[in-house]
Amino acid sequence: MLEQDIQEILFTEEQLKTRVQEIAQEIQRDYEGKEIMLISVLRGSFIFMADLCRAIDLPCTLDFMSVSSYGSGTTSSGQVQITKDLSEDITGRHIIVVEDILDSGNTLSYLLKILEHRHPASIRLCTLLDKPDRRVKPVKVHYSGFTIPDAFVVGYGLDYAEKYRNLPYIGIVKPEVYGG
Ligand code: IMP
Ligand code: MG
Repeated sequence: MLEQDIQEILFTEEQLKTRVQEIAQEIQRDYEGKEIMLISVLRGSFIFMADLCRAIDLPCTLDFMSVSSYGSGTTSSGQVQITKDLSEDITGRHIIVVEDILDSGNTLSYLLKILEHRHPASIRLCTLLDKPDRRVKPVKVHYSGFTIPDAFVVGYGLDYAEKYRNLPYIGIVKPEVYGG
């Protein structure tokens, strides 16, 4: 049913699983002997976060925040607002921000600036997908799952108009779905 709106599958369930395990192992190596705090940027990263945290064998706490980026359709703008803030204090903690996709960089450059002002011990960014061709603001990425071309993708947490998040794979939506 949902599949008929998908033009092409970019990453299968199996490929996602393998890559998530690899990122988790990298994080585990880098933070050996430390306690980490994973911050999921809602809502797109909720599935990635759930799979990633279960593959990391380190003491770990989780928190969630939500931001809205004003923009229309499939692009974001530079104006970002926190719509749900963290529940925990991040001062002195080793933070890893977990995102679904890094696109223009508007959302994350703003978000990382805000979090840095709260004086964590360290802060790194982990994104499942990266679309470097679309970057407007530079953002330093420490962990990246896959680099993808400039196409609008959905599934594994990522949405178009709040739908398709529940697809177990990542695919490109047919342009006619969003009138493109
Ligand atoms: P940025 O501020 O342009 O980097 O936008 C980042 C946010 O835009 C992501 O967290 C996603 O919520 C959304 N986004 C960007 N590209 C896509 C896409 O291809 N599919 C679904 N959401 C996207
Ligand atoms: Mg998002």
